[in-house]
Amino acid sequence: MYIGGEVVSKYIIHGGNKLEGEVQVSGAKNSVLPILAATVISGETSRISNIPRLRDVEVMTEILTSIGAKISKDSHGLVIDSKPINSIHLPEELVREMRSSIILMGALLARFGETIVTYPGGCEIGPRPIDLHLKSLRQMGAIIEESHGFLHCKTSGLKGCDIQLDYPSVGATENIMLAAATAKGTTIIRNAAREPEIIDLQNYLNKSGARIQGAGNSIMTIEGVSSLKASDHRIIPDRIVTGTYMVAAAMTNGEIIIKDIIAENLQSIIAKLRETGSMITIDGNSMKVKAQNNISPIEMLQTLPFPGFPTDMQAQFMSLLSVAEGTSIINETVFENRFKHAEELVRMGAKIKTFGKVAVIKGTKELTGATVFAKDLRGGAALVLGGLVANGTTKVENIYHIQRGYENFDRILRSLGASISCV
Ligand code: EPZ
Repeated sequence: MYIGGEVVSKYIIHGGNKLEGEVQVSGAKNSVLPILAATVISGETSRISNIPRLRDVEVMTEILTSIGAKISKDSHGLVIDSKPINSIHLPEELVREMRSSIILMGALLARFGETIVTYPGGCEIGPRPIDLHLKSLRQMGAIIEESHGFLHCKTSGLKGCDIQLDYPSVGATENIMLAAATAKGTTIIRNAAREPEIIDLQNYLNKSGARIQGAGNSIMTIEGVSSLKASDHRIIPDRIVTGTYMVAAAMTNGEIIIKDIIAENLQSIIAKLRETGSMITIDGNSMKVKAQNNISPIEMLQTLPFPGFPTDMQAQFMSLLSVAEGTSIINETVFENRFKHAEELVRMGAKIKTFGKVAVIKGTKELTGATVFAKDLRGGAALVLGGLVANGTTKVENIYHIQRGYENFDRILRSLGASISCV
């Protein structure tokens, strides 16, 4: 994996340091990706700021460039001119590298009435089907043929309709929003995803002339308009990155201030971290996390769609609960296979048993340093958190998973007093 032309592969962590200081959170990965996809629709130039420097963002800009968009950097972020886009065929390799590029289907169907994309297969955390995406786009009038591993999508004009989602899928909701913004008539999404990133996408699209209401609620209404125009937008801060630093402070008996947060987007994380004993104070758009000496267990931590507890924080909390004073239970209800970090934490001395989507974590006094392997983005971050408190040295391999979603992770942790290096 290359970052800035350099090959990096693992973190070396010496545990035991208390984290103290201030962190500035970067823009949200899961917001910038759908918004970059949305810039395709207008055929004009958008300026997007507060963009995190992540591999997934690089992949999205490479995909947009490969179909003809002109992308440049300015002092605030990226300038995306989507007028010159001249291809509807998404590059297979890049789509496989980042499955959320599937949301370009809605944008390209809206702009060109056609797109060809490879079937984005499963990933480390589960089979990740896209049946809800395809069902909704077909309901809006897209003809979708699946052959030889490709999806060939065509429409003579998308039409607004009433869509009942079987599950509040984030990706399916975003794909429908991109397809419906300029569709003929009105689209209603029932059981829509309510994540803050959906609201951010609505805000960007409405600034571009769309007429969308209800993001953040289970029912959204999208009144199709004839076209969208250029607009500027600042990406919301990343609530999962924020949550990860909150857990880092709690695990290391630390005290940190996190700047540029939206407290409303963090309520379930704040509530659960307070349950483990941490003191959390909010002051406008910054937060202070002050750990208590002892970490209390959580009787039941269940992941759910927003505003429930985010599945993207499950691994980090498993790491925290592995050093709590007592036994905790985690029920992962969103993804089928999102406990791969458990066996790696067990290598570090954690006492964790998993049964399908349920994990039982018996807190232990101390973790010990070991060589462990990141198997996915959030699981990798959880291993780094374990290494921060482990006795001795931890080597976290395959950190390219982590660099997909955390900007300057090691540098920021070092600035808070952690002993971590990248080799
Ligand atoms: C988004 O993925 C996020 N990714 C994920 O974050 C996050 O874990 C997930 O939402 C849930 O919050 C981005 O935003 C880029 P879903 P997405 O569609 O859109 C099932 C991270 O760590 N489903 O809400 O793919 C699916 O299998 C990543 O940053 C269907 O069955 O999630 C899963 O079990 C990981 N059919 C559940 O719904 C479909 O057509 C939730 O998936 C679509 C989804």
